[in-house]
Amino acid sequence: MNKETPEVLISEEEIQARVLALAAEISSDYRDADELVMVGVLKGSFIFLADLSRRLSIPRTIEFIAVSSYGNGSISSGAVRLVMDVRGNIEGKHVLIVEDIVDTGHTIKYLTGMMKSHRPASVKTAALVRKAESAEVDVTIDYLGFDIGDEWVVGYGLDFAEQYRTLPYIGFVKPTD
Ligand code: PRP
Repeated sequence: MNKETPEVLISEEEIQARVLALAAEISSDYRDADELVMVGVLKGSFIFLADLSRRLSIPRTIEFIAVSSYGNGSISSGAVRLVMDVRGNIEGKHVLIVEDIVDTGHTIKYLTGMMKSHRPASVKTAALVRKAESAEVDVTIDYLGFDIGDEWVVGYGLDFAEQYRTLPYIGFVKPTD
């Protein structure tokens, strides 16, 4: 993998405009709710969650959750393990799971089921990007930023070996020849 600056796939301006539009849609959909609990999936969601949550015009609280995939490397076995659960009680509350990326869909499917076991009022999902061609399970993303191809994307929370997470745009990296 080279150390060059990743090429821009989705610019900072495009991301910010899309986040603003998603925030307006979410604020409208939950306008009658007492509170929306936004659950960020560590680590990749931290920037999307920060920007999205600050653009909402409704009452919201923040929780984090951490998962780990069984299996090795970048090949997903499809099995997901909970590493850290939410701290607060979400029973009877409206929950929005916030992801940076949906790839095979196993993580968001697992998390949706896991959240429902806490008996919330509702569970919906938001993701900044989705690799539509990589889907292995059928999952609904209620608030989606962008569909992308099969590139290895970095930036805006997404990493390659823990690098590039703080880039303001989404870029792609190519393996060195
Ligand atoms: C990414 C992403 C999702 C998961 C999606 O996390 O944040 O949680 O992979 O993949 P799936 O749809 O195939 O299940 P990652 O394992 O890269 O961890 P990170 O967020 O800490 O970088």
